[in-house]
Amino acid sequence: MGNSYLEAKAKLEKYGQEHLLLFYDKLNPEDKEKLLNQILSVDFEELKKLYEQIGKQEENDKKIEPIDFVDKYKIEKNQYEEYKKIGEEELAEGKLAVITMAGGQGTRLGHEGPKGTFILNIKPEPKSLFQILCETLKKSNEKYGKIIPWYIMTSKENNKQTKEFFEKNDFFGYPEGYINFFIQGELPMLDKNGKILLGEDGLLKLAADGHGGVFEAMFKSGIVEDMQNKGIEWVFVGPIDNPLVNMADEILLGLSKIKKAMAAGKSIIKANPKEKVGVFCKKNGKPSVIEYTEITDEMANATNNNGELLYGESHLNCNMFNINGIKKIGAEKLPYHTAFKKATYIDSKGDLIKGEEPNSYKFESFIFDAFEKLDNMAILRVKREEEFAPVKNKEGVDSPATAIELYNNYMEKIKEKGRK
Ligand code: UTP
Repeated sequence: MGNSYLEAKAKLEKYGQEHLLLFYDKLNPEDKEKLLNQILSVDFEELKKLYEQIGKQEENDKKIEPIDFVDKYKIEKNQYEEYKKIGEEELAEGKLAVITMAGGQGTRLGHEGPKGTFILNIKPEPKSLFQILCETLKKSNEKYGKIIPWYIMTSKENNKQTKEFFEKNDFFGYPEGYINFFIQGELPMLDKNGKILLGEDGLLKLAADGHGGVFEAMFKSGIVEDMQNKGIEWVFVGPIDNPLVNMADEILLGLSKIKKAMAAGKSIIKANPKEKVGVFCKKNGKPSVIEYTEITDEMANATNNNGELLYGESHLNCNMFNINGIKKIGAEKLPYHTAFKKATYIDSKGDLIKGEEPNSYKFESFIFDAFEKLDNMAILRVKREEEFAPVKNKEGVDSPATAIELYNNYMEKIKEKGRK
């Protein structure tokens, strides 16, 4: 046995993960090398700590306060025009880049392949989520005569398929060289006993490290530098699974520029105090998001003098960052949160375990944990029916059926006037 095998074995013994080499002999030479490299690059100490933290109350002694926001539809007319003019200038000067986070596993949707390749049966013809977003960007490019550089974050799991999908579709006509792909980081998944999972291929079962991995991945893959070379000042970072995502919003840009904001987030009013969404707030004076699992009933129900919820601005995962804000956030890892997910894996007897029910732990960082590194953030409240059609579940709420209806209704509404 070579040196790296012995090194890997010693590492596994130290952390009680010896099962990972049980089927080593059955692998072909290439996979043998892959497996050893995987084992040697895992931070077992970090994983051990993450496992030990599961189920423990995250310390939460931060002072929570409401955060100011601007309602897009209540901005005074002159002010609105000013934001619009400034936002338009930024777009015409090519100051905006867009990142689409498409590295998620989309487990709830259960679609084979990257979520962006999911075809939504919209009018007048079905289109994939990638195509819908691409066309939204193309419209903005035409309007302002500048091409928005589009960066698509994938995961190791779906990068190849995503690229092939774009190539097969001639990049949906997006100008050559303006679409870039970059791959986010990943972490091993654990079973209930803290053992690292082996996938069907005999290699470690790794999963993307959450949308909060976007910053580390941007720095590691040279995207921040590339943006700076292109003179980019604003970076919209949004999801692949919202066909109504408004990525080049003049008002958001104008508002951010005037407020000298390091970041800006879109919100919509929480449907009711119990809705299971994270809401914008301040934690120890810094912009943040409080999750529905963290908020007390008293806070969730608290209202201001106008009867509006004090913590009622849902986080849409549609945020924009100033390039200096991104530099301030930096490449350091954000804290990990634990999710209990369905996974298919090989157990220590060599049997294939199919995850019909959640059976394993996955560790993810969240983009909004980065907000606390910034001093200020502008929040723009927009309308649900104009900007939010999430495709999360196979059926029922936030499913393709609800997204199609929302998308078709909105497109019908703006046919003549265009997007406000
Ligand atoms: P979600 O958190 O809804 O996850 O992602 P998901 O992977 O799409 O779906 P489930 O939870 O497995 O069913 C919100 C957005 O963040 C991206 C997703 O692709 C989506 O655009 N994301 C999520 C990443 O890019 N990487 C991740 O590791 C997680």
